[in-house]
Amino acid sequence: SGEEAPNTDIITLTRHVLNDQFHLGSLATGDLTLLLTAIQTTSKFIATNVRKARLINLVGLAGETNVQGEEQKKLDVLSNDIMVSQLRASGKTAVLVSEELEDAIIVEGRYKGKYCVVFDPLDGSSNIDAGVNIGTIFGIYHIQPDSKGELSDVLRPGSQMVAAGYVMYGSSCNLVMSTGHGVNGYTLDASLGEFILTHPDIRIPSRGKIYSINEGNAAYYYEPVTKYLNSIKFPATGKPYSARYIGSMVADVHRTLLYGGIFCYPDDKKSKSGKLRLLYEAFPMAYLTEQAGGVATTGRMRILDIVPKGIHERCPVFLGSKEDVQDVVKFYQAEA
Ligand code: AHG
Ligand code: MN
Ligand code: MN
Ligand code: MN
Repeated sequence: SGEEAPNTDIITLTRHVLNDQFHLGSLATGDLTLLLTAIQTTSKFIATNVRKARLINLVGLAGETNVQGEEQKKLDVLSNDIMVSQLRASGKTAVLVSEELEDAIIVEGRYKGKYCVVFDPLDGSSNIDAGVNIGTIFGIYHIQPDSKGELSDVLRPGSQMVAAGYVMYGSSCNLVMSTGHGVNGYTLDASLGEFILTHPDIRIPSRGKIYSINEGNAAYYYEPVTKYLNSIKFPATGKPYSARYIGSMVADVHRTLLYGGIFCYPDDKKSKSGKLRLLYEAFPMAYLTEQAGGVATTGRMRILDIVPKGIHERCPVFLGSKEDVQDVVKFYQAEA
């Protein structure tokens, strides 16, 4: 067959999103595409710094504590700073919410746009120094029709997001995103500096074989969680599930989307609302899960229906394959 010529019909993320927006006809202004370009730039910046972290003294603590009471890593701070500056400079944002900033940023003046971005600049901080997969998570709202961009624009259910996604800095850099018509995955071709469509229309299997939870918290679990875990570890028929837990939500959710199964971070006797943050962790991941055909719940209600009261509030999370998540919900219903 000889040498094959390189494929010249590569689908970049920008091409793909623009094409998606064509279908919206005159509704599409190109603003969302430009906003996503800013997110791509920040992701490439973070990806290259993650790779060099050990070489350029980017590992370790920054010396400050964030609003969650967590010690900030140098990469947490750097990633936050690049996101804030690029999103503001895009001219397309009105409100920014970051895990690392106590208050929302209201963009004023000539840079003000119509979108609100909620984000976890660096997810999986505890894995940085070991070189294990980490990520960035984002969710995007359009400001409400009568608003110029205020806090109330981001205190809305996740179902009202217009787009959500994450970037995973792993053996490759992957951006996975939805604008409300399914989920697509792109891989960074570092030599081109472009995200290329590699995982079109990700569909999560309806049942998986893997469960993912920090079982070190088992002493604090409530009964439905304990009973559910027993049911998959000691099944009456069939094989027990396999355990996989990385401790970076992005990596654990990425595997769950591709392989199926269930990812859990429940509330327990120690963490009354769970650990994960509603706006910039639970919502975007719940959005992607549903768009891929899966289910995302607190055990008692659909995550995307929650109306946030504060920007840093937490919520319990069970997400993944439809049938697996329905199984855990049954244990909550039995308890009620
Ligand atoms: P972050 O690094 O952004 O603070 O998020 C950490 C989160 C999430 O990535 C992960 O799923 C979870 O914390 C792990 O928590 P445990 O260490 O308690 O298992
Ligand atoms: Mn953190
Ligand atoms: Mn996180
Ligand atoms: Mn983080």
